[in-house]
Amino acid sequence: MPRAPAIARTLPSLRRALEGLRARRATIALVPTMGALHDGHLALMRQAKRRASKVVVSIFVNPTQFAPHEDFGSYPRTWKADMAKLAEARVDLVWNPDVGTMYPPDFATRILTEGPATAGLEDRFRPHFFGGVATVVGKLFAQCRPDVALFGQKDYQQLKVVTRMAADLDLGVKVIGIPIVRERDGLAMSSRNVYLSAEQRAVAPTLHRVMKDAVKRLRNGSDLEAVMADGTRTIGNAGFTLDYFEARHAETLAPVRSIKDEPVRLLVAAKIGTTRLIDNIGV
Ligand code: PAJ
Repeated sequence: MPRAPAIARTLPSLRRALEGLRARRATIALVPTMGALHDGHLALMRQAKRRASKVVVSIFVNPTQFAPHEDFGSYPRTWKADMAKLAEARVDLVWNPDVGTMYPPDFATRILTEGPATAGLEDRFRPHFFGGVATVVGKLFAQCRPDVALFGQKDYQQLKVVTRMAADLDLGVKVIGIPIVRERDGLAMSSRNVYLSAEQRAVAPTLHRVMKDAVKRLRNGSDLEAVMADGTRTIGNAGFTLDYFEARHAETLAPVRSIKDEPVRLLVAAKIGTTRLIDNIGV
């Protein structure tokens, strides 16, 4: 049986554990998560192991990135299964603070992000989201002082926001993006996929199918506006409520008129029932 990782739940125990890891000048990779781990998370951990000598995974369901009507209370919490996966992945340390440790009652600071955080994608539908993410990730970076941190391209705008924030605040951490891990039928893995009924689960891969088809048509020279309009229609007909399906510059997230404004990324967010799914793809 693989050895279980060490677990820290308080700041003093985190500090002690990190001092132990840093002995002999080890480099540290941090993988921030909210738990309910799946193969997408595990891909980040595999990359982390290649990029640094020690791997720290944080598990913290961050209340400040959920709006009151969102799923903070019901977000899947699967501690035992997570720990088995972390042992299997040979993670060195799990940072699992409680809400009171991260946000003591007198907590009064928030990192305000602009640029990619105001691109009009996730921020348009979840206005509280990037403030919560940037603040918690800023704290995780300050607490763990990693050399590198790994984030999934699945949350593409989040990856850009965190990369910008780490550079702007001179946090000395290199942020690395990892490609999306998918189910066999193309659905992007997500902790929220467990919310889907069997019927919804069967429809969910439509998002990836539409994007793949759009990329193919665009590469064959089809008009961007027409391709996006067709995709929008297909997603709606499949039973989704669409938040957005957009073509953006892959680095700045600015709107693009044609795929000549490269590199271009297609990004989608849509609800099926009450479950909101996001996905994206490079053109
Ligand atoms: P969470 O949704 O748990 O995701 C943790 C990390 O795993 C993120 O960087 C996310 O992009 C990545 N990830 C999720 N699904 C993936 C997939 N299918 N393929 C590749 N990577 C995937 O994102 C968050 O948590 C939080 O916002 C967090 C950054 C931890 C801040 O609270």
